[in-house]
Amino acid sequence: MKPLLAVETSCDDTSAAVLSPDGAVLSSVVSSQTAVHAPYGGVVPELASRHHLGNLPCVVEAALRGAGLAPPELGAVAATAGPGLLGSVLVGLSYGKALAAGLGRPFYAVNHIVAHLRSPWMEHSSLPHPALVLVVSGGHSHLFFCASPRERLLVAATRDDAAGEALDKVAKHLGLPYPGGPWVDRLARRGNPRAVLLPLPRLSSGGLDYSFSGLKVSALHHMNRHGLAPAPAEDPEALPAWEYDLLASFQKRVVDHLLQRVKQAARIFGPRTIAMAGGVACNSLLRERIAALAVELGATGAFPSPAYCTDNAAMVGFAALDSYRAGAPSDLAADAFASCVWPGPTPAA
Ligand code: KG4
Ligand code: ZN
Repeated sequence: MKPLLAVETSCDDTSAAVLSPDGAVLSSVVSSQTAVHAPYGGVVPELASRHHLGNLPCVVEAALRGAGLAPPELGAVAATAGPGLLGSVLVGLSYGKALAAGLGRPFYAVNHIVAHLRSPWMEHSSLPHPALVLVVSGGHSHLFFCASPRERLLVAATRDDAAGEALDKVAKHLGLPYPGGPWVDRLARRGNPRAVLLPLPRLSSGGLDYSFSGLKVSALHHMNRHGLAPAPAEDPEALPAWEYDLLASFQKRVVDHLLQRVKQAARIFGPRTIAMAGGVACNSLLRERIAALAVELGATGAFPSPAYCTDNAAMVGFAALDSYRAGAPSDLAADAFASCVWPGPTPAA
């Protein structure tokens, strides 16, 4: 079997990667659009798709060069079909289909969340199942139970903001650059995580779903009470002490809430692996706490390297490999989608 090329354009990163059929990443290229969207404080969908259109051919060329391959040496092409910003998804999906058709190779449409979900196995192929996998990014906060590599039940999802979205919004209110998550991670180390008492989200239904908007609003109220001064443009890291305390307390609560559900789900499902993926899985406190929880529960804790946590085509290629190896390509008519529904656990009788 020949190598597979994957492309990923679901949000604001343009990415391409080449993988060998056994899962080795031969090259992985990500072109970030952070500088394009930073002045707007968030991703502008139309700008994102236009930049994908311009960047994708160079990014694919760089990935092929990195792998030392010419297009005819590829055996298959994969691309993200959703969920994501539709205009952005369509660029990579159309490109992937056209390349596959032009080369006369099979095409594989990949679900972006499944790609995140499978990413912990890219670098740790022997992680045992059953597994609980937390997918936390700017757009998603999903907890899945995977009895095997191809099975997934949605155990919890957010009812409102995603974890990364809440971190980004609180950071934005403090005048920190976009995306705020990495800034919160770094600046929270200067504050006291117990200084500001923020409520741990609780659902009246008693369900396992996440909810971050109440926590975010409490943080915003705290800022308003203190009379917010914008972060100095020359040094966005120079904040008053109470702001470091707020960031530390807010980050701790976000992590507490994420862990609270993982613990509850672990009691129900008894996983052998506790893994996480997505941009927020770069967060140092969350990594520390997930690793400690796995030890406490006698499970294996795992998360990808930071470069494979944020959006990347290598995980898309990795997720396509099962179907590639099984010789089960997607239809070239595979549609793009903005959102999707997941099977949940069967309620106890
Ligand atoms: O997976 P990703 O690149 O894109 C989406 O699919 O959303 O995740 C981006 C999110 C942003 O909200 C960003 O602030 C967050 O991941 N993020 C972090 C960290 N690095 C990235 N959040 C907390 N701590 C970090 N170190
Ligand atoms: Zn993502």
